[in-house]
Amino acid sequence: MSQQNIQSSLHEMRQFTPSAQFIETASMTPQKLAQLYEQAEMDNVAFWAQQARDEIDWQQPFTTTLDDSNAPFFRWFPDGTLNASYNCLDRQLKNNAHKTAIIFEGEPGDIEHISYQELHKRVCKFANALKSHNVTKGDRVIIYMPMIAQAVIAMQACARIGAIHSVVFGGFSSESLKDRIEDTAAKIVITADGGHRGGKIIELKATTDAALEMGCDTVETVIVYKRTGHSINMKSGRDIWWSEAEKDLPEQCEPEWVDATHPLFLLYTSGSTGKPKGIQHSTGGYLLNAITTMRWVFDIQDSDVFWCTADVGWITGHTYVAYGPLATGATMVIYEGVPTVPDAGRFWDICQRQNVTIFYTAPTAIRALMKAGDEIPNKYDLSKLRILGTVGEPINPEAWMWYYDVIGKQRCPIVDTWWQTETGAHMIAPVPAATMTKPGSCTRALPGIDAAVVNDDGVEITHPDQGGYLVMRKPWPSMIQTVWGDDDRYISTYWPMFNGKYYLAGDSARRDADGYFWIMGRIDDVLNVSGHRLGTMEIESALVAHPRVAEAAVVGKPHDVKGESVFSFVVLKGDRPEGGVDNDLTQELRAWVGEKIGAIAKPDEIRYADNLPKTRSGKIMRRLLRTIAQDQEITQDTSTLENESIIPQLQGKA
Ligand code: WT7
Repeated sequence: MSQQNIQSSLHEMRQFTPSAQFIETASMTPQKLAQLYEQAEMDNVAFWAQQARDEIDWQQPFTTTLDDSNAPFFRWFPDGTLNASYNCLDRQLKNNAHKTAIIFEGEPGDIEHISYQELHKRVCKFANALKSHNVTKGDRVIIYMPMIAQAVIAMQACARIGAIHSVVFGGFSSESLKDRIEDTAAKIVITADGGHRGGKIIELKATTDAALEMGCDTVETVIVYKRTGHSINMKSGRDIWWSEAEKDLPEQCEPEWVDATHPLFLLYTSGSTGKPKGIQHSTGGYLLNAITTMRWVFDIQDSDVFWCTADVGWITGHTYVAYGPLATGATMVIYEGVPTVPDAGRFWDICQRQNVTIFYTAPTAIRALMKAGDEIPNKYDLSKLRILGTVGEPINPEAWMWYYDVIGKQRCPIVDTWWQTETGAHMIAPVPAATMTKPGSCTRALPGIDAAVVNDDGVEITHPDQGGYLVMRKPWPSMIQTVWGDDDRYISTYWPMFNGKYYLAGDSARRDADGYFWIMGRIDDVLNVSGHRLGTMEIESALVAHPRVAEAAVVGKPHDVKGESVFSFVVLKGDRPEGGVDNDLTQELRAWVGEKIGAIAKPDEIRYADNLPKTRSGKIMRRLLRTIAQDQEITQDTSTLENESIIPQLQGKA
């Protein structure tokens, strides 16, 4: 598919610079950043070697920085050995033992503070429990837990003994869990009786039982943490309570030193086709970029209280909950539940009570909270906040501005961080004290990251605002190692073009006259209307900029004259129009988009619904919307939808 002519018509002109006061208190200064860019520019590999020496405690220091002899299977720091859990916990014991590592808040309101010393003990004790159940270096361990501190303890315990964890998001079904257990051939599953979410109990153990009934012959043991205390089945000989499993075991556990390339974890992510891919990450390179990005993008300091709202079931919850904050000795918040229990003020309430200084969440959450109105956040003291982050999808400028104005009170730089499960850590993102920001742009590539926008031939597009493929032209430490058990799929998915020289992110992007990156959407979300390519995201952004629109999704519908027509699904801020019909508003929105982008982008059809169909991780189910737009029979799995009743609305039948 030729990406050369992607039209970019959405122009956001606003610019924001960090305040003098922010720059003064920042640890990552513009000068330091300039130095980092300079060093990386001079010699990228030497740059990462220096970072790795400065940031990681190696058991055996590496002598080779990068082995690229079998590209694209790049091996960073191949002869170095380390332990991730040691780097997260043991190194804090000297000066930081009594510092709070985790402030846990359950959805029902229970709160626990865990110091580094205490966390170290619990991780060691549980690591010993795993060992006593036959788990050894290289074994795969499935973690299917609520968003509680024990999920992090389980991950760290695996890392401590060199076992490879694979966390499965607690919202996934028994079938997805089974697929992941079988693909990893795990011998142990760590779960809980349940967790609290949205005022309900999520039946994790029952779902685990159902998964194991479907197969999963490799599983010998299920360790169950008691979270809710409601009654569940325990299968004798297989299931054991967490407290039983670790009873009487010592609170020390020598770390298992592993090669830097030893897999730290697998995390499954769905592609546009085929079964989920087990993204395999290394120990050394992964940990390094978890640490560098905590410093560069989050400017992490000793006094900060860091809160990343992501679940550990996603990469964000790995890098910015389970590893990055601990490896930099930070205090972090972990919250079990949803943002709307008991009401839409829960996040702001936690920020106020726990004195959160750095807050990191997803645009979908920001838009949902924005929809609830300004009065709610305005009730809380958010003055401790100093940096606000966003990740997961392009943030529309309206949501960005709301976050900036209403949550940050124009005081906090917004860090819009572009990265992927596969990249392991932030790749394109602002450094808050140094980068001028623009609403909707993830700004510039971080030091040592060679991101570019190229055409079909791999030639860099230098013309401002011309869209193309987003690629990485150099390897970086936290990059995906391979797809678990499927090297061919790794190559064919990520290195299919440009003679296998560049990592293909799968996103289309453009750079503006300042060289800023603007993500336009996935490659497969690009519409071709009358020979003009339009990023769906740009039309969505235009729609959402209308005062009455809360959310919008745009898909292409085959059209015999134009190639594709623009089909949009809209959620309004107020009530849905009676029967889903409001011709005046539809005309107004079409004209509005025409005004914002150009007549070419005007939606041919608009359907109104109470909600958009989303995956559990908050991504819009575009394939489903495409099916609906084309009036085809729905064959996708819609069981994960929170509100299945929206389907007839989307189909224009209700
Ligand atoms: C895809 C990766 C990385 C953690 C969360 C998602 C999109 C991610 C941004 C951003 C625009 C973004 C991209 C990317 N994406 N962050 N700041 N701006 N788009 O991880 O599930 O691996 O998804 O999410 O399309 O390729 P993921």
